[in-house]
Amino acid sequence: MKRTLGAVAALTVTFQAPAFADGHQTLLQNASVIDVETGSIAEDQNVLIEDGMITAIGSRVRANGSATRIDLDGAYLLPGLTDSHVHLTSRADKHGLRRLLISTPRAAISGVANAKITLEAGFTTVRNLGAPGYADIDLRKAIDEGEVPGPRILGAGQGISITGGHCGDATSLPYEDKVEGRAADGPWAARQKVRENKKYGADLIKFCATGGVLSPNTTINAQQFSLEEMKAITDEAQALDLKVAVHAHGPRGIQSALDAGVDSIEHASMITDASIAQAVSQGTYLSMDVYVSDYILSEGEAAGVLAESLAKERQVGRFQRERFKAAVEAGANIAFGTDAGVYPHGTNARQFAKMVEWGMTPLQAIQASTIGNADLFGMSDEIGSITVGKYADLIAVPENPLSDVSVLEHVDFVMKNGDVYKNELGD
Ligand code: ARG
Repeated sequence: MKRTLGAVAALTVTFQAPAFADGHQTLLQNASVIDVETGSIAEDQNVLIEDGMITAIGSRVRANGSATRIDLDGAYLLPGLTDSHVHLTSRADKHGLRRLLISTPRAAISGVANAKITLEAGFTTVRNLGAPGYADIDLRKAIDEGEVPGPRILGAGQGISITGGHCGDATSLPYEDKVEGRAADGPWAARQKVRENKKYGADLIKFCATGGVLSPNTTINAQQFSLEEMKAITDEAQALDLKVAVHAHGPRGIQSALDAGVDSIEHASMITDASIAQAVSQGTYLSMDVYVSDYILSEGEAAGVLAESLAKERQVGRFQRERFKAAVEAGANIAFGTDAGVYPHGTNARQFAKMVEWGMTPLQAIQASTIGNADLFGMSDEIGSITVGKYADLIAVPENPLSDVSVLEHVDFVMKNGDVYKNELGD
């Protein structure tokens, strides 16, 4: 649905700051409401929205005369999807040495474009796990102020790295051109980085416990930070009421991060059975990006991915999927995290089918992206299900995603906070 801003004649926008006065009602009619907790579907439902919140659900729910009415024509209504691992300021066609040419303002501009694309793909909340110059925090502010469209963002600000490590201090540049100031070595230096992230508005902390695939001169098996440093980061973050997301591919880094008590392990590619068992008993979320390997191995070279990174991806891609299957079978908490930005924004939902291919039911994959992530984000009271009192973050698709989860790759209707950003139902 498009609305025209009266003050700016002829400018039609697909987003807006809240356009309605307090108390305005929107009624979604004739929806097949999916209960993501149970997988049950209630047909012919109306959902009433007021001040950005869901206020009533049922077949007999009515709205007042001035309400906006939207007929969903039987489409399947789900809570907005969420992604626990994106990089909105990154572009999938700019890898390797191309990254050296991107300034922070340029990355921020990409972030604005990618936020819109991500929201229109049905992702109404994302965790942004690392951005240059706190661009993710300013993007979050611009979205929350209604200046640009985008999902709710939980931003990690600047990822915390050891000297030369993945998360911001790996470099292809020679020694003479070294960039100072991104790394932290030692528990107090690491604590200082946590405090700095808090100072500039981060909503959570990200650090890297192993090398990475896409960073030069890092080893995916090698642990980054000692257990002592990881404990310091986690302790400092908890003191500041911030959750901790940890990049880790290799088994030692994963195990140390679990011992340090972090909230989620990102990638978790080479997680051992013993670490899975510990994640299960602690309730640690595993945010395994099991789709992205397809993109890196097929499109990566043309997008500038370094030869050494392609070699690392070949080592880890399939192995990660096997470990994902083991984690699912063990009953681990699985987040839905894609690393979008490495591959094109807006195609986040391609990961659903991959998760089903590697051991989940469609309902479990949808749960990861809704109630699962909501729990990980500490937002279970606000998002993750179609429940009275939660935000009206809602999406709709014409076919049943519990039968074929890939229908989520093309979302026809997107509402965030009660505002409609996309409605192609019936087109
Ligand atoms: N950002 C990650 C890294 O550089 C991407 C890893 C992608 N590969 C994978 N199999 N999940 O390490």
